[in-house]
Amino acid sequence: MFKFVMPEVIFGSGSIKQVGESCVRLGARNVLIVTDQGVIDAGWLKSVEERCQEAGLAFVLFSNISVNPKETEAEMCAKVYRDNECDAFIGVGGGSAIDIAKAAAILVTNGGQVRDYEGVDRITKPLPPLVMVSTTAGSGSEVSQFSVIVDSERHIKMTIVSKSLVPDIAIIDPDVLATKSARLTASTGLDVLTHAIESFVSIAATPLTDVHAKNAIMLSSQFLRPSVASRFNMEAKEKMAMASLHAGLAFSNAILGAAHAMAHTIGGRYLFLHGDINAVLLPHVMEFNALAAPEKFRTIAELMGENVSSLCVSEACEKAVSHVRKLAVDIGAPLTLSEMGFEESAIPVISEIALLDACMITNPRDISADEVAFLLRQAL
Ligand SMILES: [Fe+2]
Repeated sequence: MFKFVMPEVIFGSGSIKQVGESCVRLGARNVLIVTDQGVIDAGWLKSVEERCQEAGLAFVLFSNISVNPKETEAEMCAKVYRDNECDAFIGVGGGSAIDIAKAAAILVTNGGQVRDYEGVDRITKPLPPLVMVSTTAGSGSEVSQFSVIVDSERHIKMTIVSKSLVPDIAIIDPDVLATKSARLTASTGLDVLTHAIESFVSIAATPLTDVHAKNAIMLSSQFLRPSVASRFNMEAKEKMAMASLHAGLAFSNAILGAAHAMAHTIGGRYLFLHGDINAVLLPHVMEFNALAAPEKFRTIAELMGENVSSLCVSEACEKAVSHVRKLAVDIGAPLTLSEMGFEESAIPVISEIALLDACMITNPRDISADEVAFLLRQAL
């Protein structure tokens, strides 16, 4: 038995124009738009506001959001929603703005603090309507049942998993990706690949998630390079937006693995880009996990275009790993944790906390704190 959850998806060039009528269809009259400064600077907020006006919606703005969004920001966002008697959320952004909108949505109907909902299935009351507009390819948060929020006191990223967090409507407009820098395109693109590979080898993978994970692996290995190379290559942008959507649907339902568990823990203590941490960790975690799912790693190599027909299974696994390493090199992603500013002295505490992250549960190979520490030392 398995379940598969997803929102209504509106995908394609110009789809951002559907945001106002999407809210109206859900019964909204006074929406809280949650976004970040990067989206405002790129002009996309203006576009969303205009569509809200055309649809006859009143709206309020909340944009006080960090790159790694914090619990306190979700609480402030919920306060703005309550003070203005809003009746729906629009999240416009990458993972940060969408995750804050989701966490604030929990608070406005369920009360309490964000940390009360850390873990799996802690939300008991329905959330207000959620319309999410993705501006990166990407976090996948616009389609997922996840919200990842920094607990500033414990210095960890809390992973909240609940079907209640699946947005009502996800709008994915590839045109928006043309305003992203090469650096951000590379980082978020390697996050997509990590979502795809981790969900494909997850112990919670199903035939339905495999379809999406495989498409995401194929598309991102083929189109991430040209997408980083040119902001005007709209075919590559559209394919990466599709890869992000497939990967989001796969990991939302199959969950992730050790790379994300470690990335969440490191991201709670360091202001690194989430995609950069995954980019560094992914090949090491793949090497470690190959023992648990060798045939799946052979398939990953094939999906990436490697000819593995004459190779034994361990050689095929190595091909998958080396392909991921080469991709990261080609697009200029960081290759070690130390070049990002990670300190070796943090390894013992990171190793212990990472084991408790919800994503560790679905890693295909059993893992101990010592083994997490070993992987982190390899990635230094
Ligand atoms: Fe991620």
